[in-house]
Amino acid sequence: MSYSKIKVRPVAGSLGAIVEHVDLRESLDDATYAEIKQALLENMVIFFRDQKISPDQQITFGKRFGDLHIHPFIPALEGHDEIIKLKAETGEQEMLRLANSWHEDLSYTNDPPLAAILRAVRVPSRGGDTMWVNLCKAYDTLSEPMKEIVAGLSAWHDVTKTYRRQELQRKGGPEQYWGTFTKTPPTLHPLVKTHPETGRKLLYVSELTTTHIEGLHEFESNALLDMLFRHIDWKELHCRFYWEQDSIAMWDNRCTAHYAVRDYTEPREMHRVTVLGEVFN
Ligand SMILES: [Fe+2]
Repeated sequence: MSYSKIKVRPVAGSLGAIVEHVDLRESLDDATYAEIKQALLENMVIFFRDQKISPDQQITFGKRFGDLHIHPFIPALEGHDEIIKLKAETGEQEMLRLANSWHEDLSYTNDPPLAAILRAVRVPSRGGDTMWVNLCKAYDTLSEPMKEIVAGLSAWHDVTKTYRRQELQRKGGPEQYWGTFTKTPPTLHPLVKTHPETGRKLLYVSELTTTHIEGLHEFESNALLDMLFRHIDWKELHCRFYWEQDSIAMWDNRCTAHYAVRDYTEPREMHRVTVLGEVFN
């Protein structure tokens, strides 16, 4: 599609584009909204620079694309339930558990969201990039015999996979684990899904939360998942974004996974709104 309202500049071979000539402080007219949505569908993750928007403006922008999600356990920004605050003093203290592994947000729920809109409020002077992987291309680049193997399989997604043994062994650890488990019990997703808007097939796995494949022996499941995790780690399927203050990334959470590179030693604060979509398989 050609664009007349915005400028779209791809940043990598597999996915990702910078969107320019738009001011997100202003409410979007229908034509601009349609072009941004199209840019998202075509590029899977889109980036904006120098967007000094308020929390309310971020919420307004998000609502243009659908209803917003309220997170079951990540703390919200004071006074703004729709915005989650991801704050870390250093990469080591990254509050999102193990965000430096490939994952789709909320894949451990029955209806993972359509999109996320992440704004950089405070960035380290270096490090802290985010990477995305194109899961449609990940599916396309599997061999034909492997496509046949994964076609009929489903895998369990379980947020408690992020718990580490030392957490479980400390006082209150098991209770916290059980609380998380009962609040968001594991859910089953097909390994191959179809994007509801583009119709493309995609490989749906999360290194962070996918625990095992239904119906396989444990050693079969471990071997297959290990191969699929290596497959989505192919650098040719990725793009990488360097954050500046007031940068925004908006990703299609149905056909991308992301990875927060934990190589920074200074405070970092990001605000995210999450857009709900339809359930898809
Ligand atoms: Fe994430």
